[in-house]
Amino acid sequence: MKKLVIIMMLLAFVGVNVAIAADSVTYENKKGTVTFDHKTHGETLGDCAKCHEGEPAKIEVDKKSAHGDTCKSCHKEMNGPTKCNDCHKK
Ligand code: HEC
Ligand code: HEC
Ligand code: HEC
Repeated sequence: MKKLVIIMMLLAFVGVNVAIAADSVTYENKKGTVTFDHKTHGETLGDCAKCHEGEPAKIEVDKKSAHGDTCKSCHKEMNGPTKCNDCHKK
């Protein structure tokens, strides 16, 4: 019984962690602000491991990675947005 309580507390703790991981991140740049909806991506894709290797943590996003493996490559595969202005909003 005590074990069960501990497991449930652990699960609740993990749940809170998932909830507080940045809901949405914006990247400001001269081409136009890109909004990455972290929460929606997590829910739509259903698996943190689609983007995170091992324990989810900060991923560096720059122009090169965003236009490649970190963002756009998956969009190409999964019919996500690939046009400049789909991501960059003035
Ligand atoms: C579509 C790809 C993708 C998915 C799916 C995803 N993440 Fe992330 N995650 C990212 C990116 C990109 C960043 C870095 C954002 C930034 O620039 O700060 C990040 C950052 C994080 C961070 C670090 C936050 C910070 O402020 O440093 C945590 C923790 C995290 N994600 C947890 C999760 C968890 C838990 C899930 C599953 C529910 C998940 N992620 C699903 C792409 C993703
Ligand atoms: C593993 C796959 C995957 C990765 C990685 C990924 N995305 Fe997406 N993204 C998708 C899919 C699939 C959709 C379409 C979702 C839909 O239409 O419901 C989408 C939709 C979007 C949209 C449009 C959603 C809206 O609110 O209109 C934006 C903007 C976007 N992604 C930005 C990003 C950025 C920025 C990154 C990198 C930091 C990224 N995505 C990484 C799969 C991915
Ligand atoms: C999948 C979403 C996505 C698409 C599609 C996309 N970008 Fe980006 N782009 C980003 C992200 C995210 C960054 C990184 C911003 C940062 O580092 O803060 C970026 C960075 C840039 C930068 C760098 C701006 C600076 O201040 O250094 C330029 C320029 C740019 N993109 C132009 C384009 C052009 C032109 C296209 C179309 C051919 C395009 N992008 C398509 C997401 C996207």
